[in-house]
Amino acid sequence: MAKTVNKTKTVYVCSECGNENPKWAGQCPACGAWNSFFEQIVEPDKPVTLTTKADPMKRAVPKRLREITAESELRQTTGISELDRVLGGGIVKGSLILVSGEPGIGKSTILLQMCMKMRDLRILYVSGEESPRQIKLRADRVGEYPENLFILSETDISAVVERTQEAAPDILVVDSIQTMYRQDMTSAPGSVPQVRECTSELMRIAKSMEIPTFVVSHVNKEGAIAGPKVMEHMVDAVLYFEGERSSDHRILRAIKNRFGSTNEIGVFEMTEEGLKEIPNPSELFLLDKPENVSGIATLCVMEGTRPIIAEVQTLVSKTPFPSPRRTAVGFDYQRLNLILAVLERRCGLFFGASDVYVNVIGGLRLDEPAADLGVAMAIISAAKDFVLPEKTILIGEIGLAGELRAVSGIEKRLHEAASLGFTRAVIPARNRPKGSFPLEVIPAYSIKDVLNKI
Ligand SMILES: Nc1ncnc2c1ncn2[C@@H]1O[C@H](COP(=O)(O)OP(=O)(O)OP(=O)(O)O)[C@@H](O)[C@H]1O
Ligand SMILES: [Mg+2]
Ligand SMILES: [Zn+2]
Repeated sequence: MAKTVNKTKTVYVCSECGNENPKWAGQCPACGAWNSFFEQIVEPDKPVTLTTKADPMKRAVPKRLREITAESELRQTTGISELDRVLGGGIVKGSLILVSGEPGIGKSTILLQMCMKMRDLRILYVSGEESPRQIKLRADRVGEYPENLFILSETDISAVVERTQEAAPDILVVDSIQTMYRQDMTSAPGSVPQVRECTSELMRIAKSMEIPTFVVSHVNKEGAIAGPKVMEHMVDAVLYFEGERSSDHRILRAIKNRFGSTNEIGVFEMTEEGLKEIPNPSELFLLDKPENVSGIATLCVMEGTRPIIAEVQTLVSKTPFPSPRRTAVGFDYQRLNLILAVLERRCGLFFGASDVYVNVIGGLRLDEPAADLGVAMAIISAAKDFVLPEKTILIGEIGLAGELRAVSGIEKRLHEAASLGFTRAVIPARNRPKGSFPLEVIPAYSIKDVLNKI
C-alpha cells in the first residue's frame, strides 16, 4: 500500500529562536526561553515560487578574489553620526540591517530621521504598522521633508518586492517584519515561518539589487509572534535599541555586524523633535551624581573606540534572609560574585550575612573587566560606610589574587577623565601610560594598595 504523503502534521516552534520540536515543552532547549513554544501546522511541501524574478544565487559564477571590485564596500553616511558609528562607519551597499527593540523605544523614529537626513537619496519607506498620515505627523516633528522620500503602506511582501523593483530606491526601510506576510503561506503574519520567508525575500532584494535595507523587528514579550532571534543569523547586522522607560536616553548597540565592530554604542536622547545625538555620553551618565554618599564610584570603560565615564552605585545591607541576595543591574552577576570572593579572601571583608546590590547609572552595561576596580571600591565603600574621594576615577581589572591587571587604551581613558574635570585617576601599576596628563595618576598593584593610596 502506498504511504500517505499529503498529510499535514503539527510541530511546536519556539517564537524566540525558531527552534522546532515535535512535542510541546515549557522551556526551549535551544535558547532557554520559557513558554515560547507555539503549535504550528506544517503543510506538505509545495514547490517554492520565488517572488523575486531572477535568483542571483543560481546564476552566479566564481570570480577571482583579486578581480572583485571592493568599490561596493564604500560606505554611505546616514547623516546621524551616532548611527554611523554603530554601523561601523556608515551603510554598506546591499546590506540587510535589523533594527530591534522594545515597543515605543524609538525604532521608527530613528529610521525616519535617517531617511529625512539622507536628502540626496531616493528612499522607499514601507510601513505595515502606521498610515502615511501617522508617518507624516512624526515627520513634522522631527525634520524637514526631503524631495525623494516615498512612503508605502503595505503588508504583502510580494507587493513590497515589486514596488522596490519598480522604484529602484537607494535605501529601503521595512517597518516591521512582523506585519509582513506571504500570501501563499497559511501561517499568520508574525509567525516564525512568515518572518523567516519575508526576511529572505528582503535579503534577496537587498543582495540582488544592492539596496541597503533596514528591517524593524519587535521584541516579542508573549504570543506567537516571532522574535528577532529568528532572523539574526540571516541578516548582516543587528542593531538593538535600548533604554529605560523612566529616562529619555536611548542606547543603540550592534549585537552583530558583518562589516564592523560590535563594541560601539550610539547614545541618544528622546525629545519632542525626535532623537537627539549625545556625542559626549560621559557627561550624561555623570549628571545628578550624589555627593558625600558611600557606595558610589566613578570608572571608565571603553565602548568600542570611545571611553565612557560611568557611575556605579552599591548598597551592602544586613540580610534578613538565610542566604544573602546579590543583585546586579548593568554588571555581570558572575563577575560580581567573583569580586565579592576576592574581597573576602584578599581584603578580609565578609559578605556572608549581607545583601549586595550593584547598579550602573543611566542604563549602561559594563561588560569590560576594567570596570572591576570601580565596582570593588564602591562595594568596599558601602560595606565600611566611607565616602570615596571626589573627582577620582578608578580603572583596572581585578585578578583572583587581588592584583590589578593592566587594561587597554589607558591613555584614552585618562584623557576622557581629565576632560571631564577629574583630578585623580587610580590605574594598574603595570599600565605605564605614555605622555603627560592634566590629572594626578596613581599607579597601584592591588586592591589593598589602592586602599592605602586613596
Ligand atoms: N510628541 C512627542 N514628543 C516627545 N516624544 C514623543 C512624542 N511622540 C512620541 N514620542 C516618543 O517617541 C516614542 C515612540 O517612538 P517610535 O514610534 O519611533 O517607537 P517604535 O520603537 O517604533 O515603537 P513601536 O514598537 O510601537 O513601533 C514614544 O515612546 C515617545 O517616547
Ligand atoms: Mg514603530
Ligand atoms: Zn528557542
